[in-house]
Amino acid sequence: MHVEPIRWRGKALELLDQRLLPREVHYVACRDAHEVAVAIRDMIVRGAPAIGVSAAFGIALAAQRGDDVDAAAAELRASRPTAVNLMWALDRMQRARDAGGDLTAEAEAMFREDVEANKRIGRNGAMLLGESPTILTHCNAGALATAGYGTALGVIRAAVEAGKRVAVFADETRPYLQGARLTAWELKQEDIDVTLITDNMAGHFFQQGKFDAVIVGADRIAANGDTANKIGTYTVAVLAHAHGVPFYIAAPLSTIDVNCPTGASIPIEERSAAEVTSMNGVSIAPDGISVRHPAFDVTPARLISAIITDQGVLRKPYDESIRRVFS
Ligand code: MRU
Repeated sequence: MHVEPIRWRGKALELLDQRLLPREVHYVACRDAHEVAVAIRDMIVRGAPAIGVSAAFGIALAAQRGDDVDAAAAELRASRPTAVNLMWALDRMQRARDAGGDLTAEAEAMFREDVEANKRIGRNGAMLLGESPTILTHCNAGALATAGYGTALGVIRAAVEAGKRVAVFADETRPYLQGARLTAWELKQEDIDVTLITDNMAGHFFQQGKFDAVIVGADRIAANGDTANKIGTYTVAVLAHAHGVPFYIAAPLSTIDVNCPTGASIPIEERSAAEVTSMNGVSIAPDGISVRHPAFDVTPARLISAIITDQGVLRKPYDESIRRVFS
């Protein structure tokens, strides 16, 4: 089955409700920018590139309806703070508007370009893998997190398409379970070999020499290569480093924030305590317990073996390779 997180219907944006997967495949129709902002905030749609493309369609809807486009952009911009693709997409829509462009056509172009970029990331990344690699991935950086094809899972798809025998281990990614609910589901749709583990099992399998590579996505990459991604990514990077396993980030250039000098300036979203203290609506912790819920962490550039982009594979020192790719 072809995984379609975002469907543009001309006067409405249909978003696959990722909160219900894998139990139910249900689309939510957004008819204005406010509904798109709510869908992003509540994680009906999630994943950095998917958030960016959805926000672009939100602006297109606002323009079509004759709503206040600046107010729409401000609400969308505030919906989630860490994934820079959101800001990147809104800035691009703003430039199209300033130039008197067709905002619907611009959003449609961003959708198409994201899928094309992911296919290039896939091809660039597949070349780094052996013939029968076992790969650990964290969170969901798949078709579901993008307009289609995926970034980290795009590399895996491209490797499979190239005839490699790929086995994937998916971290569950507590507390939102994107690995268990989304990555496991998405790969099973295409019969790609996937094994689900809980986050705290990763060290055990590294110790057993199970993994040939780690490939994850990114929500924001700073100008020096420091990378924010789903909470727990840093732990996996430390484990990969300790066990001599290559740790790759797969992301389009729209995820690189050249205005962010290092990871220290990346805003880290704190989400609700309820997502930690309950599962599927059932409480699993004492009432009133104090909770922290940073949704992302920052992996320092020194732990990253390469950044696989749509414009090639970036290597250390990242401040130089990133500067080059943007010049
Ligand atoms: O909180 P989420 O599910 O939006 O977080 C998503 C991630 O961290 C992904 O790994 C990242 O956005 C890369 S998506 C191609």
